[in-house]
Amino acid sequence: MRDAEYNLIRTLVYENSRISLGPDKRELVSARLGKRLRATKVHSIAEYCELLQSPEADSELGHLIDAISTNHTFFFRENGHFEFLRKVIVPEMSARVRGERWPRFHLWSAACSSGEEPYSIAITLADCLPTWPWLIAASDISRRVLSRAELAIYPAESVERLDAATIRNSFQRGYGPQEGYYRVRPALRERVEFHHLNLLEGEPPFRDLFQVIFCRNVMIYFDRPTQEELVNRLARHLVPGGFLLVGHSESLSHIRHGLRLLRPATYQKPFAS
Ligand SMILES: C[S@@+](CC[C@H](N)C(=O)[O-])C[C@H]1O[C@@H](n2cnc3c(N)ncnc32)[C@H](O)[C@@H]1O
Repeated sequence: MRDAEYNLIRTLVYENSRISLGPDKRELVSARLGKRLRATKVHSIAEYCELLQSPEADSELGHLIDAISTNHTFFFRENGHFEFLRKVIVPEMSARVRGERWPRFHLWSAACSSGEEPYSIAITLADCLPTWPWLIAASDISRRVLSRAELAIYPAESVERLDAATIRNSFQRGYGPQEGYYRVRPALRERVEFHHLNLLEGEPPFRDLFQVIFCRNVMIYFDRPTQEELVNRLARHLVPGGFLLVGHSESLSHIRHGLRLLRPATYQKPFAS
């Protein structure tokens, strides 16, 4: 890929998702564009760059972001966060609920990929919060992963490493043509609402604040000013005393924000500021 082509792709990806591609990502980008070249039936990166600058570019840009972004995820990834949710956040928020008159326990999985993260939250809450109503908002910039998340069907390999009781209580096993797949049970699916959302663009469509926001393993793809902007945006959607959980490789120590570090990758919004 020529310099000019790579620079155009980087700029468009940054402008449309704020994902920051360094010079070291050129080969990865080349490899990931292969699928888009075949899908759009163009024969070279140069031709693909022309397409991206043509009147048809709008619909292709979404596919470009899809192809470039990393959607890797799995159930109960960084399990310490789910244990913290169960043992600390739920008891603490349950104790506050009456005084605060919150209608429900409201959580946001802010870069949910194909759904394993919000469904892991749902599985945890179904087990430890049976009486208080709860709802999970889940969002991602990629329509491709969101449609997989809404379907909630996962290959056996990704489910069968969970313990037997979790599989039994939380999934329906596929038979016949669905053999080898599991689907999240309807009672859990109906607690998760999916939204197509660029975290750095416009205002998210949520009226109620959240007690907890999971925003994990997406900030590593952003540059520092973008990380700072994102963390401060997310903080505005938290109740006082609400929690922000980030990926374990995503320290916020180098950016300015008003949150308190409680333990690695776990931040709390102050009660009064
Ligand atoms: C590696 S996945 C993380 C999934 C999950 N949070 C986890 O930790 O396993 C990163 C996700 O961030 C999404 N993403 C990237 N840029 C985004 C943006 N600007 N707004 C919303 N989502 C974005 C990608 O589409 C991808 O699904």
